[in-house]
Amino acid sequence: MDEMRDGTRDVIKIGNETFVPMLTEEQIQKRVKELGEQISEDYRGKLPVIIGILNGSFLFMADLVKNVSINCEMDFYKLSSYGDEKISSGNVKLLKELNADINDRHVIIVEDIVDTGLSISYIEKLMATFSPASMKVASLLVKPKCLKYDVKIDYIGFEIEDQFVLGYGLDYAQKYRNLRSIYVLSE
Ligand code: IMP
Repeated sequence: MDEMRDGTRDVIKIGNETFVPMLTEEQIQKRVKELGEQISEDYRGKLPVIIGILNGSFLFMADLVKNVSINCEMDFYKLSSYGDEKISSGNVKLLKELNADINDRHVIIVEDIVDTGLSISYIEKLMATFSPASMKVASLLVKPKCLKYDVKIDYIGFEIEDQFVLGYGLDYAQKYRNLRSIYVLSE
């Protein structure tokens, strides 16, 4: 069970649950490249601060900024996660503050996945305590049917159904973040 290189397994079994491939490494990398190029174009002549939301966004953030061809700065917020559950506790805790001064700066928030939108709306409220010149949100995945908060996601990798996914930064009880592709819980 603990050997996990993509390509060596078609399914991931966790207890009596089975996860099947949803997005391959190639599909993810192609889309992340497009998003990076779009951001480079939109922010040409500016020096954006790209802020990753830990833990889940670390791989997406790394691949995204490798595809951003303009200068940018980076920082991270860390929020509490779902814990070991597959549904949100409905609470968000800030575990790490920013170090960058984002007043008058163009900010791009980078999330792994937007489910209810609670985390992003929490970050938006935090941002409102500063005076950024602008703020946009990039999320690799969005579950439009699960949105409960009025949030705008400016750069979307893929829209998915109301399904639990893991891999490429996304965890299940803190594991499987290091998978290169994304797997979905099979019905
Ligand atoms: P939201 O605050 O309800 O929008 O949930 C966003 C956060 O919940 C993400 O940053 C993830 O940490 C976690 N999350 C939501 N859906 C999933 C999933 O399908 N798999 C793994 N983590 C998820």
